[in-house]
Amino acid sequence: MNILLLGSGGREHALAWKISQSKKVDQLFIAPGNAGTAAVGTNLDVSATNFPAVKDLVLQHNINMVVVGPEVPLVEGIKDFFLQDNQLKNIPVIGPAKEGAQLEGSKDYAKEFMKRHNIPTAQYISVNKNNLDQGMWFLKAMAPPYVLKADGLAAGKGVLILDSLAEAEEELNAMLNGKFGDSSATVVIEEFLAGIELSVFVLTDGKSYKILPEAKDYKRIGEGDTGLNTGGMGAVSPVPFADKAFMDKIETRIIQPTIKGIQEEKLDYTGFIFLGLINCNGEPKVIEYNVRMGDPETEAVMLRVKSDFVDLLEGMAEGNLEEKKLDIDERAAVTVMLVSGGYPGAYENGKTMSGFDQVKDSILFHAGTKAAEAGVVTNGGRVIAVSSYGNNMHDALKKSYENAEKISFEGAYYRKDIGFDL
Ligand code: AMP
Ligand code: GLY
Repeated sequence: MNILLLGSGGREHALAWKISQSKKVDQLFIAPGNAGTAAVGTNLDVSATNFPAVKDLVLQHNINMVVVGPEVPLVEGIKDFFLQDNQLKNIPVIGPAKEGAQLEGSKDYAKEFMKRHNIPTAQYISVNKNNLDQGMWFLKAMAPPYVLKADGLAAGKGVLILDSLAEAEEELNAMLNGKFGDSSATVVIEEFLAGIELSVFVLTDGKSYKILPEAKDYKRIGEGDTGLNTGGMGAVSPVPFADKAFMDKIETRIIQPTIKGIQEEKLDYTGFIFLGLINCNGEPKVIEYNVRMGDPETEAVMLRVKSDFVDLLEGMAEGNLEEKKLDIDERAAVTVMLVSGGYPGAYENGKTMSGFDQVKDSILFHAGTKAAEAGVVTNGGRVIAVSSYGNNMHDALKKSYENAEKISFEGAYYRKDIGFDL
């Protein structure tokens, strides 16, 4: 079969790497892809949100399945676009339709869903300009720190955690007045949950589910989890505190009610569910839903999937996921992200990269790179993920760090303390 994967980051390179290993695949195309995906498939220079152009690719290359990497095309309704088009409606899209994608696209929708299905999460209130008073009262009744979330997608920047009530009130006003554009016309104010975070990934065909290996990612730029938030600086899998008892709680209290909720609400949902969870004294609670895989978690998690991933994708598409096998590699897998100097603030693209040929015992997943005349150059804040296996997290990290050191480009930076808190 021919598969089209949409997206261009490290997550997509890791997915492409795994998909390309399947005997079921004749041709793998990635749109738009990056310098790394070009090594495992064919890049096509089309944006994932340009649906008519995606349609042309699908018809031109006889695509049999579309796998959507990032959230934006899903939230914008790529699946609905396919279902409404006579030439495309029989081509499966891995990902939810627009309504189900609201689990990520609207924090208010996600909170309402969790409330309806009794899924443990932080207490909250949704506020817009019409019930600002209620929001202010809710803030006054809470203990600091205060958590404010833009309802809509805000490229990972829409969550503010504030220490003082005055600041929280000021920011709430700013958000309602367009701090994140339309995305913050509604703001979810939440109870702050203290604990350590965990990412859990679920495959579903809308009826049954399979749980991929869990992972923990490291979002802050600085060591010791300090400094600004980034897209993610590294990840490890498995996560030591996610033992059987804890994973069982996640499955019965969160995953099963989520799948049941999807069914009861008749959401067209075949794809990934990414649960952003927090361990509050041994009790898992949902911080957020995402409707895609995590980045950089995928760059560790895909290493631990032993089964043919395309077989699992087919299970989601055809509604027989239950019959499919998911074998997990018992080894640890980690990834360490090399980023551009200045990231997550301003940084420069186009830095020549070298050292790839010296890398041994790690797998490189390109995140922000581009093929240029001078070779591979940087083309993003997060540049390349160095992923490794090990008998344990420490062994794996040692390999990733050794290899990260060999890759050079001007301004390169990576965190040397991934896994420090586990
Ligand atoms: P989100 O965009 O929902 O993933 O939020 C970004 C980050 O903010 C999360 O990864 C958490 O670290 C933090 N966060 C979000 N909601 C809460 C909460 N209710 N309590 C504590 N931390 C939170
Ligand atoms: N690593 C977190 C995310 O992909 O949103």
